[in-house]
Amino acid sequence: MTTMENRPVPGGHGAAAVAGTAPATHTAGGTDIRTSEPMLRLVWTDAVTGAKGYLVVHTLVSGLATGGTRMRAGCTMQEVEDLARGMAAKTATFDLPVGGAKGGIDFDPKDPRAIDVLERFCQAMRPWLDAHWVTAEDLGVPQHLIDEVFDRLGLGQSYHAAISRAPHPDRTLRRVQAGLSAPVPGGLLLGDVIGGYGVAQACLGAAGAWGWDETTTTVAIQGIGTMGGGAAFYLHEAGMRVVAVADAAGTLYRPEGFDVPELLELRDAYGEIDRSRLPEGVQQLARDAVLSVEADILVPAAISYAVTPDNAADVTAKLVVEAANSATTPEAEAMLAARRIPVIPDFVANAGAAAWAWWLLLGQVDADPATSFHRLRTEMQSRVAMLLGEWIADEVPLRHTAWRLASANREAAAASPGSTASTASTGEALVIP
Ligand SMILES: NC(=O)c1ccc[n+]([C@@H]2O[C@H](COP(=O)([O-])OP(=O)(O)OC[C@H]3O[C@@H](n4cnc5c(N)ncnc54)[C@H](O)[C@@H]3O)[C@@H](O)[C@H]2O)c1
Repeated sequence: MTTMENRPVPGGHGAAAVAGTAPATHTAGGTDIRTSEPMLRLVWTDAVTGAKGYLVVHTLVSGLATGGTRMRAGCTMQEVEDLARGMAAKTATFDLPVGGAKGGIDFDPKDPRAIDVLERFCQAMRPWLDAHWVTAEDLGVPQHLIDEVFDRLGLGQSYHAAISRAPHPDRTLRRVQAGLSAPVPGGLLLGDVIGGYGVAQACLGAAGAWGWDETTTTVAIQGIGTMGGGAAFYLHEAGMRVVAVADAAGTLYRPEGFDVPELLELRDAYGEIDRSRLPEGVQQLARDAVLSVEADILVPAAISYAVTPDNAADVTAKLVVEAANSATTPEAEAMLAARRIPVIPDFVANAGAAAWAWWLLLGQVDADPATSFHRLRTEMQSRVAMLLGEWIADEVPLRHTAWRLASANREAAAASPGSTASTASTGEALVIP
């Protein structure tokens, strides 16, 4: 059985505070993820730049928690805590045998010192990264960068805490890397597009539940980076018309729809589109215009708190699909619900990347993209159909139904002896092949 002692976290180049006891499974305050207290909050101060870094472990399951590390100027403990809770909800919704965590660093990712700050943060968090916290890319921290830092620290790859449990870690690492870097159509890698593919499947599942014709369904997407770009690609491939996309520089609108692969060719490393090479017939609008252009589905895939009480009344879409975390404020969501516009919550719609990473780690999908796409399509569409079923019948907000599902999954995992779910909850034997 995996347990952790109550041990201080070494400071690396900075100082970390607050270490907690960590039994194999820990959900402080019960299985209701919405209200339970996170099991651990850590604050780190970088001795070189003064940057603050945060780790919140919301829940440990099988002695493990999963969640990316973000870097942005202004990142706060509260933000990281909300995101860790969201991760706990994602892993529970998709019945994964791990809990939720998140890392965040308050620093500009474009600063040339960013990689060294990230390295010092990871060094300070090392006891967690070594044994319990599986991290990955997030806002401002691409996967290749965090992997480079793990490599520098001799930890191999950011999934180290899980991979090190395998009987043959080198073999497992090779298998996982093969999955992450499997090429997919469009010249991208499976690990880069899978989250966006999941968002697209949430949209397609909703269209299916309502009986919409895909070829006449229109979509507006805020953000055209990893998540927004992937979603746009697979929605376009499925026949939907992507009529508006926004990046940090503004909204691009083309009522007859974009040739998405052609548009993605114009992106730079930060997910911004080169305006000097835009195709014919593209209107350039204000950045937030993407939220109110005429489209059946709105996909916020950039910033948190994109849809607020100030702009919720301008949303014309019939459905909002949250690719970004906390894309809709609770007040805005209530305003949308009053207009009968449902929101597929972040911890369902954008959980594809996290769920898939664990299926890959557990050997349930491989480097053949078709296996991964099939699994994610099936799992995402069935959940969306269930959530929308309750909305259509009784107008139950999708988020409420999804929270219920997440808590029910965790309770079932804790209660069923001998099942995979039960080993997940006891932490006895999570097998990483
Ligand atoms: N990458 C993942 O695996 C993943 C998984 C789950 C959730 N998310 C969430 O999805 C969101 C986007 O993440 P990403 O990895 O795609 O980021 P990214 O950095 O790859 O892309 C961000 C995109 O948003 C645009 N953007 C930034 N500010 C904007 C603004 N104010 N208005 C319009 N566009 C703006 C950027 O120009 C870029 O196109 C974040 O909230 C992230 O936490 C990401």
